[in-house]
Amino acid sequence: MEKLMISGGRPLQGTVTISGAKNSAIALIPAAILAESEVILDNLPLLSDVAVYSEILEELGAAVSWDGNSMKIDPSHIISLPMPNGPVKKLRASYYMMGALLGRFKEATIGLPGGCNFEPRPIDQHIKGFEALGATVTNEHGAIHLHAKELKGAKIYLDVVSVGATINIMLAATRAKGSTIIENAAKEPEIIDVATLLNSMGASIKGAGTETIRIEGKSELHGCRHSIIPDRIQAGTYMIAAAATRGNVLIDNVIPKHLEALTAKLIEMGVGIEELDESIRVIGKPSYDHVDVKALVYPGFATDLQSPMTSLLTQAQGVSVLSDFVYSNRFKHVPELIRMGARIRVEGRSAIIEGHVLNAAKVKAADLRAGAALVIAGLTVEEGVTEVGGVEFIDRGYDNLVSNLRELGADVWRQTL
Ligand code: EPU
Repeated sequence: MEKLMISGGRPLQGTVTISGAKNSAIALIPAAILAESEVILDNLPLLSDVAVYSEILEELGAAVSWDGNSMKIDPSHIISLPMPNGPVKKLRASYYMMGALLGRFKEATIGLPGGCNFEPRPIDQHIKGFEALGATVTNEHGAIHLHAKELKGAKIYLDVVSVGATINIMLAATRAKGSTIIENAAKEPEIIDVATLLNSMGASIKGAGTETIRIEGKSELHGCRHSIIPDRIQAGTYMIAAAATRGNVLIDNVIPKHLEALTAKLIEMGVGIEELDESIRVIGKPSYDHVDVKALVYPGFATDLQSPMTSLLTQAQGVSVLSDFVYSNRFKHVPELIRMGARIRVEGRSAIIEGHVLNAAKVKAADLRAGAALVIAGLTVEEGVTEVGGVEFIDRGYDNLVSNLRELGADVWRQTL
């Protein structure tokens, strides 16, 4: 069993370059299925989730090859093989196979997704969208079966603002007959990235990034080349780590606009921030003010940065309140932070955090962002070695985490115990 070992207390210093966005990559790879010819995706993050997706596509008959961070997908020989089990079970985002296969083949069987289960994560809005497009959807023996004689454009109002449902409906609707309108759509940058790829493949999608997306279905899409946007959550995690260790770090290859909600909170706490065109410098300070944070859908503060932010708020003076309005119970990092001496209590969908010095401990990540929170917490500890288990979760979302942190001066290593 592997653990991350952290001998903290060193301010992070230097430059870190951010890779392509995980949550774009795992939607763009299945989107390639909708084309009839070769799609090349550049700037892919080298993560376990991306490797699993490559496995899924190969199982369906796609030819997949790699050149550095570029993935070439030839989907011309793909078939809609039922996938009730196997690699689809390892990924939350395997639900995108439903929209992509339904769009191209009008049928799919996909096992219910796995991934980070920090709380029940329903997919009712995805299914509502597929049904509105004309698909019959059944749930049998742990797999979703989708079938349509024909997909027809429809007006779909999402009851919950959902990234996954917005993308999944977009995928299926690009190959439906006629116009689809998604109302109350999610506005995350990853949705714009998927729409950009699909439009380069010949789709007609307007309004991605707003609450109304209009799609004119096409009978055929073609291959193209697309470069993935930088990972705003990975960037935000390093920004928080730089602040927590009172470091001075240039976070390079970012779109600063994607990080505005975090940047504003860091400034409110007293962290020094310099925004450049494609990078952000974070300058730590000896002490920080407490702040209240509300995790919301984009452009609000990202729920994926809520756990890392909890660790930073243990370093602020006074009491901060951090509430998550996207997930009601995403607090699996809290008991572990308490083992490290944090003073936090969870009330409903809020964590109430009293600033307090942390100490080294053996802790375990229960999901990806909880893992990031524990690593940041470990980096702040002045004495002793913090052991973080659950490394497999962290590997799902942060490529080169250990080497990046080491380059920034941290004393971090992997150990097999
Ligand atoms: N929801 C429903 N019904 C649905 C879909 C969602 O009730 O059919 C609810 C969820 O339970 C949640 C809220 O709507 O309370 C938002 O969920 P959303 O569908 O937006 O989340 P997702 O698409 O499953 C993606 C990211 C998550 C990120 C969320 C929110 C991927 C694969 N995952 O999940 O990323 O937290 O959007 O921004 O893109 C992570 O990277 O660590 C991660 C969990």
